[in-house]
Amino acid sequence: MAKSQTFQDLLIDTPCEGVLRITLNRPDARNALRTQLLGELRDVLMEAVTDESVRCAIITGGPKVFAAGADIREMADKTPVEAMTDSRQACWQVIQDFPKPLIAAVDGYCLGGGNELAMMCDVIVAGAGATFGQPEIKLGMIPGAGGTQRLTAAVGKARAMKAILTGEFMSAQEAFEAGLVSEVSENAQERALDLAKIIAAKSPIALRLAKEAVRRAAEGGLAGGFALERKSAALLFATEDRKEGISAFLEKREPKFKGR
Ligand code: HXC
Repeated sequence: MAKSQTFQDLLIDTPCEGVLRITLNRPDARNALRTQLLGELRDVLMEAVTDESVRCAIITGGPKVFAAGADIREMADKTPVEAMTDSRQACWQVIQDFPKPLIAAVDGYCLGGGNELAMMCDVIVAGAGATFGQPEIKLGMIPGAGGTQRLTAAVGKARAMKAILTGEFMSAQEAFEAGLVSEVSENAQERALDLAKIIAAKSPIALRLAKEAVRRAAEGGLAGGFALERKSAALLFATEDRKEGISAFLEKREPKFKGR
C-alpha cells in the first residue's frame, strides 16, 4: 500500500477523508525532480487511481520551494537519445493522465519542471510569496514536460514568450492575474486542503468526467506542440551551449553561450 510505504523523496499522508497529500521532500536540492522522485510520484499516483478511498490529491512542496525543476546534476551527462527515452517520460505521462482531481499547493519557488508539474495539476493554489518561472533558457535548454504549451495556453503568447525567452520569474499575484494559478492565499496549504475537502465530497464519477472535459478544452489542441517540444528539448542535449549552461549553474557563474 503506497500510502503506508516510506519513500525517499516524498512524504505521503491523508490529512482528511478522501484526500491524499503528496509532499515533495528533497529540501537540500530544492525539491529538484530527479528520476527517483518522479518514479515515486508515478507509483503513488498509479495506486491512487484504483484506490476508491482517494477522491482528490494534493501535491505540495516545502515552505520555500515547491520544486526547482528537473535535477540539473542528473541532466549534466545525458545524450539526446537518453533524454528522449529515459523513464522520466513515462512518469510525466502517468501524472498527466491521473484521472482524479489534483491540486498543487505552491509555496516558494515553482520553476522549470516544477512549474510544469504544477500546470499538470487541475487547480493551483499559490502562497502569497510563491514565484513561478521557466528558467530553462538560462541553461541553454527549453521546457521539456509541456511547459511551452501549457504556459502559453494558460497566460497567452505575450506573457509565455516573455517568461520562456528571458527565464524571468512571475510573482504569485502576476501568475494569478495572468491565469496561471487559480487562487493566491496567505495560507496555501490550508486553502488547498479546504478546496480538496469540497472536491472530495462530490461524486467521483462526475469529477472524473468534468476533469476530462475541461482538460479537453484546455489541452485538446496541444498534442502536436507537446511532441515538438519534447523532441526539441531532447535535441538541445547535443549542444555545447547546454553543457555550458549546466556547468555555469553548478559553478555558480554566468554562462557564455556561443550558438554551438
Ligand atoms: C539540481 C539543484 C536545482 C536543480 C537547486 N539545486 N536547484 N540541484 N537541480 N534544479 C541545488 C543547488 O545546486 C544547490 O546545491 C542547492 O540546491 C541549493 O541551491 P541554491 O541555488 O544555493 O539555493 P537558493 O539560493 O535558495 O536558490 C533557489 C533557486 C535556485 C532559485 C531555486 O537553486 C535555482 O535557480 N535553481 C535552478 C532552477 C532551474 O534552472 N530550473 C530549471 C531546471 S531544467 P549545493 O550542492 O550547491 O548546495 C528543467 C527542465 C529541463 O526543469 C527539461 C529538459 C528536458
